[in-house]
Amino acid sequence: MGFFKIFVIVLVICAFFIANTYQLQSYEIQALLQLRKHLEYPVQLDVWENYHGDFCSLTSTLHMSITCQDNSVTELKIKGDKLVKLNEFHGFAIPNQTLSEGFSIDSFVTTLTRLSSLKVLTLVSLGIWGPLPDKIHRLASLELLDMSSNFLFGSVPFQMSRLIKLHTLTLDANFFNETFPDWFDSLHNLTILSFKNNRLKGQFPSSMSKITTLTDIVLSHNVLSGKLPDLTALSKLLLLDLRENHLDSELPPLPKGLTTVLLSSNVFTGEIPVEFGTLNQLQHLDLSNNSLSGMLPAGLFSLSSISYLNLASNVLSGSLPSHLNCGGELGFVDISDNRLVGGLPSCLNTISDKRIVKVGGNCLSLDTQYQHSEGYCKQANSDKKQITGKQIALLAGVIGGIVIVVVFLLVVLFIFRRKRHARNMVDKHIPPKVVQNTQPGVPSELLANARVISQVANTGSQGAPSYRVFSLEELLEATENFDQSALLGEGSVGKIYKGRLENGAYIAVRSLNVYKRYSNRNLKLRLDLLSKFRHPHLVSLLGHCIDGGAPDDSTVPRIFLIYEYISNGNFRAHLSGQLCKSFSMSIACILMLG
Ligand SMILES: *[C@@H]1O[C@H](CO)[C@@H](O)[C@H](O)[C@H]1NC(C)=O
Ligand SMILES: *[C@@H]1O[C@H](CO)[C@@H](O)[C@H](O)[C@H]1NC(C)=O
Ligand SMILES: *[C@@H]1O[C@H](CO)[C@@H](O)[C@H](O)[C@H]1NC(C)=O
Ligand SMILES: *[C@@H]1O[C@H](CO)[C@@H](O)[C@H](O)[C@H]1NC(C)=O
Repeated sequence: MGFFKIFVIVLVICAFFIANTYQLQSYEIQALLQLRKHLEYPVQLDVWENYHGDFCSLTSTLHMSITCQDNSVTELKIKGDKLVKLNEFHGFAIPNQTLSEGFSIDSFVTTLTRLSSLKVLTLVSLGIWGPLPDKIHRLASLELLDMSSNFLFGSVPFQMSRLIKLHTLTLDANFFNETFPDWFDSLHNLTILSFKNNRLKGQFPSSMSKITTLTDIVLSHNVLSGKLPDLTALSKLLLLDLRENHLDSELPPLPKGLTTVLLSSNVFTGEIPVEFGTLNQLQHLDLSNNSLSGMLPAGLFSLSSISYLNLASNVLSGSLPSHLNCGGELGFVDISDNRLVGGLPSCLNTISDKRIVKVGGNCLSLDTQYQHSEGYCKQANSDKKQITGKQIALLAGVIGGIVIVVVFLLVVLFIFRRKRHARNMVDKHIPPKVVQNTQPGVPSELLANARVISQVANTGSQGAPSYRVFSLEELLEATENFDQSALLGEGSVGKIYKGRLENGAYIAVRSLNVYKRYSNRNLKLRLDLLSKFRHPHLVSLLGHCIDGGAPDDSTVPRIFLIYEYISNGNFRAHLSGQLCKSFSMSIACILMLG
């Protein structure tokens, strides 16, 4: 009797399963087999070979799974073993790393789009290479897309903004190298967005601050620059990971629900907002390796959930309050390499297995862990009091203004003089002027100003380069004799080359031809052009070089302006952009005036 009952139950269960077995449409089977071929028969798909059963009932493995609904594939997950081990990828197939040269990402995605009911698509570490085709948007049901650890490059196609059902978009560890996409407004259900380890440039996408469904934003290790916008509208946000970018604003207020905030190795400036001490859910905070200054908000240490607090390698100053409370969960504190003075509060000073505390590289009155002498921190503290960021900007603005006015007056004076001169000596050529290999007639105050501005513009960067005169040999070496491959561009004023100095610093070299004969009109035109000339990659002027030409006066003298070269403009670049303009004008102009 008992046996019979069990038999019936087994029969019923079997019948249930048979009834629920989906017979995949044959064109979808064809598509799957085609995908296997595109992927060059990875071992993970060996089970598909000569398989005559129903693909929908294939046993899932760690590396392959298929789920169906209504005779269609709705989930496809394939994980290969082609890990990305490269730092550079030039867009060509690499044996044993990427799929072969014969792989066409375009045909691959075309085949994929035949699985039109896909909701979940995971294609990880398969060596897929190429720019992601925008027809991927035809997979209109996609809710999860993960193509991490492949060799995708170029831009993230705008058409993907039509995948409005997406809740997870993960494209980690690829080689996307264009501007970061900013079309997230339409993705109303997006919760996880992860683009870590790519080469995406530009600003933090502001459209993201409107997607209130987001829980995870992971954009670490890209080249994002500029400002981090206010994200407080993202009330569901738990994880914000922007490590290793070039973000250089002050820290904005953060949404209250965050548990993990990782902002290390950027260029964030200003003080740590006191409001961070009210992020009650916060467990993990890493602000290390930035340019944060001011006092430590004591509230951070006493947050009820905080367990990891890393504020190392900033320029935080002042002393810690002696009555500081540490939260019960606090297990790791790193405040090393700052400008802190005074004693350590007892909750950080007690030796305990429960809490690791790193405080080296400050000026604390301690015997343990290396400390600087008090002067090191005092100086930093008083320097900062004298010049704050705003004051630097103001000072730079004032100096820039003075330079512009002086240049303007010089130009007016010059033109005026030339006009009179021309009237007196019609048709007589102005005698050629050879620019000497010294700095003839350059007013010393102006050069001094240039130096001040150069330093101001560089405040914050370590070992700020000061203005100097370069030799022609140095430039020839840096640019490999002005090789064509070093040419960055050519403006109406002259050519720009990229170069590398002996010390490894990248520079941009702009050559200006100084014609021996020029009319007023010509000069004015050139100055106009010069003043309009701007280049996003040029940051601050490092110096100049004058090639006086041969003594027999048969060659045209050349002037070179040498700029700091940074491949991604940042806040400082924008600040100094204005200044550069006035520098190059003043210097070019002075040299032309001879
Ligand atoms: C992106 O990478 C590809 C492949 O290396 C390259 O051809 C392309 O020029 C790069 N684009 C940018 C903007 O750097
Ligand atoms: C690629 O891998 C195969 C087998 O693992 C090996 O025989 C071959 O030498 C490798 N080729 C390269 C270029 O590394
Ligand atoms: C977003 O998610 C909600 C709830 O899961 C769902 O009802 C809605 O259809 C989704 N919207 C889109 C555009 O997929
Ligand atoms: C600090 O940040 C810079 C870039 O911002 C990075 O190159 C450097 O490796 C970082 N240092 C540490 C110790 O993380």
